Amino acid sequence: MIRLRKATIGDRKKAYYWLYYSDFSMFLNKLEGLTEETIPSYEEFKADYQDYYFIGSQPEKGRCYIIVSTKNGKKEDIGIISYTSFHLFEKITEFDIWLKNLACTGHGHGTQAILKLVRIVKDLGYANIIIRPSKYNKMAIKSYKKAGFIEKELKPGEYYRAEYIDKFSEGEYGPGGDVFMVLSLL
Ligand SMILES: CC(C)(COP(=O)(O)OP(=O)(O)OC[C@H]1O[C@@H](n2cnc3c(N)ncnc32)[C@H](O)[C@@H]1OP(=O)(O)O)[C@@H](O)C(=O)NCCC(=O)NCCS
Repeated sequence: MIRLRKATIGDRKKAYYWLYYSDFSMFLNKLEGLTEETIPSYEEFKADYQDYYFIGSQPEKGRCYIIVSTKNGKKEDIGIISYTSFHLFEKITEFDIWLKNLACTGHGHGTQAILKLVRIVKDLGYANIIIRPSKYNKMAIKSYKKAGFIEKELKPGEYYRAEYIDKFSEGEYGPGGDVFMVLSLL
């Protein structure tokens, strides 16, 4: 069984290690064009995942949640999921998710976590959710489709605030490197 709890500042460092130093990281890092030398430092990660994601001080900008699995009465933190909105038009938000290692993947936990966060952002009043996996990340694409996301052509001006188009519209994997997916809550 999966549930989400609000992430705290103490969760940030482990989320960093899950992302860049787990047994799927080499695959993800390569997709992002990162090498061992260019993996972001924890300080750089903190600049992206600022305190407000972990203390809940600016929910209109975004928030992180820890994915908690309970199996045979034993609780375990198995990943992190977030919504981010500061760079997007009103009522649009973007999800990001990663589990802590490969053993946690492929059991439906990520998809269940997405569905739980969908419920949360729906209650916050959002109308559309975007997510942008690498086109080579078949496991992620499959999970997001199961959660109800559909592939769309990206028209940046329909989603990104003008001042963020240059920085974010290309995505994390370079031109044509990702699949733009949308889940409409209307
Ligand atoms: C992406 C992620 C959150 C999805 O969560 P998950 O719990 O693994 O998702 P699910 O188990 O619900 O779905 C994954 C599906 O991909 C399938 N799959 C696994 N490996 C695959 C592969 N190499 N190619 C195609 N499909 C694959 C699984 O069988 C499953 O499909 P099924 O339900 O029909 O059996 C999780 O895999 C993850 O954290 N991956 C590493 C980090 C990452 O890539 N984050 C996303 C960045 S955008």
